[in-house]
Amino acid sequence: MKIKNICCIGAGYVGGPTMAVIAQKCPEIKVTVVDINEKRIAAWNDDDVNNIPIYEPGLSEIVGEARGRNLFFSTNVDEAIDQADMIFISVNTPTKTYGIGKGMAADLKFIELCARQIARVSKNDKIVVEKSTLPVRTAEALKNILDNTGNGVNYQILSNPEFLAEGTAVQDLLNPDRVLIGGDIASEKGKEAVQALVDVYATWIPQKNILTTNVWSSELSKLTANAFLAQRVSSINAMSQLCEVTGADVDEVARAVGKDSRIGPKFLQSSVGFGGSCFQKDILNLVYISKSFGLNEVADYWEQVIIMNNHQKRRFAGKIVKTLYNTVAGKRIAILGWAFKKDTNDTRESAAIYVTDYLLNEQADIVVYDPKVRKEQIYADLEYLGTHSLEEIKERVTIVSSALDASKDAHAVAVLTEWDEFKKLDWETVYKGMLKPAFLFDGRRILESKTKVGIGFEFYAIGS
Ligand code: NAD
Ligand code: UGA
Repeated sequence: MKIKNICCIGAGYVGGPTMAVIAQKCPEIKVTVVDINEKRIAAWNDDDVNNIPIYEPGLSEIVGEARGRNLFFSTNVDEAIDQADMIFISVNTPTKTYGIGKGMAADLKFIELCARQIARVSKNDKIVVEKSTLPVRTAEALKNILDNTGNGVNYQILSNPEFLAEGTAVQDLLNPDRVLIGGDIASEKGKEAVQALVDVYATWIPQKNILTTNVWSSELSKLTANAFLAQRVSSINAMSQLCEVTGADVDEVARAVGKDSRIGPKFLQSSVGFGGSCFQKDILNLVYISKSFGLNEVADYWEQVIIMNNHQKRRFAGKIVKTLYNTVAGKRIAILGWAFKKDTNDTRESAAIYVTDYLLNEQADIVVYDPKVRKEQIYADLEYLGTHSLEEIKERVTIVSSALDASKDAHAVAVLTEWDEFKKLDWETVYKGMLKPAFLFDGRRILESKTKVGIGFEFYAIGS
């Protein structure tokens, strides 16, 4: 079976870039990305491709090439479902904020709404693809809803988790380590559906990198991959604290350890703590699933990754307070970087939010600069935590449009995102503009200690 028409529900960080690349690589397939968020769809359709709602290097060029040819963005969800032979569900699956599993389980209400809408609208057979990250066995629930509320048409459910990382989404999509497709490979219809999706990816991805499994392995592999990645960050961050008290240097340790081919060099960059919309959410989900099967030791093991990460964020903020003579009340502290990593405008779960909140508890005056994050987003992120009123936040937090402006008259500068421009900053000028002693805290280890101390900074980098 050859796929001619794809619909993707959810035009977010995954749906948008993933579908743009499929459309670019498969010009014969019509790809329609739909969303209930009208503003987001309008931004995807903006005449100027530089105004698309997600900043990812290389993405606007791809959207510019395919949009209007075979890539479309729309709010007409019913129509896109009706016309499609393959429907990707790429909606958000945040941590539940209410009821059973609050603060841990994945909230599947958006997924279920999609399933009910697909069931209501569909008049011919469909392949439904789980693109969102989901608890293992969600496909079973989806199938139940589709089969029992639908119009008697046949559904095949595939799991096709996405492994792209933000900031490198386009490269990850063009050249993925692997594509994973889970399906009902025990049945003929299931095999056909899997093959249909394999054929789409095989347009540009070597067959050997396209793995097919049963649905449950695929669903669980996604949670496992994120848990392993986050665990590496927490492991090196745990070591960073030990380095600080023993005179070891965390980069040297990471290099020495990473040279072991069994361990490998990637994902050993010590930091102020991992952020992003998924690591924490997916591990909490894993912890919840394990607990619900009575596997308490498994749950405790993974929960420790989150505990360590929270500790790292708190400890960094605590270090600032302690170094500034145990008080930051009324002191001006410049935060350089708000995004959860460089090359993205995404701020979800960014360490900067938590560090700033902690410093606000200590009544610091904060000045933030990030090259890609909008002012309203920064205020919204802080307000969302619920610790401080918006009024108080606006009074204490100023957002400026350059790193130099942020550091002017500051008691301390803290680098929280590893944007390249912070490496190249004119640090002499920063130093001159600051109050003395001028404190510099590097939460990303992107600044060289020797030169910064040479300029005159009181310099602290996490992990040494
Ligand atoms: P997102 O919040 O950026 O986008 C989700 C979109 O779905 C939103 O625009 C929302 O309006 C829309 N939506 C929700 N319910 C809808 C409905 N019923 N009909 C139409 N639209 C609806 O989320 P995201 O970052 O793209 O993540 C989506 C999924 O992919 C999550 O499960 C996430 O865990 C997973 N994932 C994310 C990343 C990442 O880097 N962000 C990477 C891999 C996997
Ligand atoms: C992560 C995974 O890398 C993707 O494979 C996955 O698809 C995605 O989650 C998801 O499911 O959402 P992402 O969160 O976009 O991608 O970005 P990462 O590069 O993984 O970084 C996550 C966080 O860890 C960032 O805050 C980053 O700064 C931090 N990090 C990463 C470190 O502190 N040290 C490292 O060595 C690596």
